[in-house]
Amino acid sequence: MPLHPVAEAGVTVVDWIDERTSLSGAGRWMMFRKVPKGTNWFYTLGSATMFAFLSQAVTGVFLAMYYRPDATGGAYESVRHLTNEVFLGAFVRGMHLWGASVMVVLVFLHMGRTFLWGAYKYPRELNWIIGVVLLILTMVMALTGYLLPFDQRAYWATVVASNITGTGPIVGPYLADFLRGGSEFGATTLSRFYAIHMLVVPGLIAALMGAHLYLVAKLGTTAPPWKKVHKDVKLDTIEA
Ligand code: HEM
Repeated sequence: MPLHPVAEAGVTVVDWIDERTSLSGAGRWMMFRKVPKGTNWFYTLGSATMFAFLSQAVTGVFLAMYYRPDATGGAYESVRHLTNEVFLGAFVRGMHLWGASVMVVLVFLHMGRTFLWGAYKYPRELNWIIGVVLLILTMVMALTGYLLPFDQRAYWATVVASNITGTGPIVGPYLADFLRGGSEFGATTLSRFYAIHMLVVPGLIAALMGAHLYLVAKLGTTAPPWKKVHKDVKLDTIEA
């Protein structure tokens, strides 16, 4: 049956791009992989974390359209305005706020799954290490985001968090000074947290997620431990 002209045009555009980039090969390599027997819902936790991150990125862009990192009252006022007066502002802020908790819970569940399945072992150690960095970056997102509404709770929670950071061994005091933008907590701290929260860390997470997924596609996923083949080797048959 001939295609509708609009669908036909879509196919032509995709073909045109593919002829010049061969991207469909990469897409097929990524998407159509063999998965081990026994793959179940627990294997979706990594993708769920990724979608939580994407949702944070999209809602975060809309929040950034209204937010002002101004420690003299502007930040608090911009969040108040967004919540109370902007169309769907409270909804988008709520999605971002609850989405942050969802992402933290999912990343821990996903880590638990890969740990219990023994997926950190050879040859996936590097992907585990990238995962650890992703976990730390997710926590940095939660910490830096918490300050941004700049209300009493945000302010004092972050004062406590940066004081605790300062008690860490060797690098602790330097890290606390870096986060605060000096020895005192103030206006620089807010703009610093904002830059880290909306530029530095999301960029790093996106790049590392790409590397993480590349390794998943390259190495394949681990079969559940109870499905792995255990060869019974008779000791008396092994030659010395
Ligand atoms: C932003 C955070 C993360 C995202 C978006 C993410 C995404 C994914 C996805 C989509 C997969 C393939 C499907 C699956 O097994 O669920 C995966 C696999 C894997 N992830 Fe993550 N991940 C994240 C954090 C972590 C963390 C914190 C760890 C551990 C410290 C980790 C370690 C691994 C390992 C070892 C695999 C291979 C699993 C296997 O071979 O069965 N990931 N990740």
